[in-house]
Amino acid sequence: MPQLSLTVNNQPVTAEVEARTLLVDFLRGPLGLTGTHVGCDTSQCGACVVSLDGKSVKSCAVLAVQADGGHVTTIEGLAAADGTLHPMQAMFREHHALQCGFCTSGMVMSAIDLVKTHPEGLTEAQIRHGLEGNLCRCTGYHNIVKAIAAAWPLMQSEPLPYAAV
Ligand code: FES
Ligand code: FES
Repeated sequence: MPQLSLTVNNQPVTAEVEARTLLVDFLRGPLGLTGTHVGCDTSQCGACVVSLDGKSVKSCAVLAVQADGGHVTTIEGLAAADGTLHPMQAMFREHHALQCGFCTSGMVMSAIDLVKTHPEGLTEAQIRHGLEGNLCRCTGYHNIVKAIAAAWPLMQSEPLPYAAV
């Protein structure tokens, strides 16, 4: 079986995996990082989004071996060591941007990438367009959009007090 070496939430990980193992199954199974969810397994819902080398990816559409040598951040790796939430997590909480929470980890990871790739600012239309790959059955998206808009200015400050993603 292929040997895999990567960094997950700033921790080095080495493992043997079958070549066909999906990244989401590797994270949820051997690594026990079950905050990353599987909603469809067909690259539709976005519940499985994680950060791979600084970009959001649907981890059900990536083989674990494709992450070899890379840096993965999951929802478990966002908060600072002292428990301080990442601004995106904090704004999701403040703006009641979740109900059942099933979509939330993927939504947060996608939202962080959306903010990072729009340093000039984000309009409501851009946020809604940027979330097209993430499905939520509960919230109607309105509070999610508000949370992301509120997180944008908080994420512009340096140095970042939370984990680099
Ligand atoms: Fe990956 Fe739905 S589980 S997109
Ligand atoms: Fe339930 Fe989004 S909060 S699916």
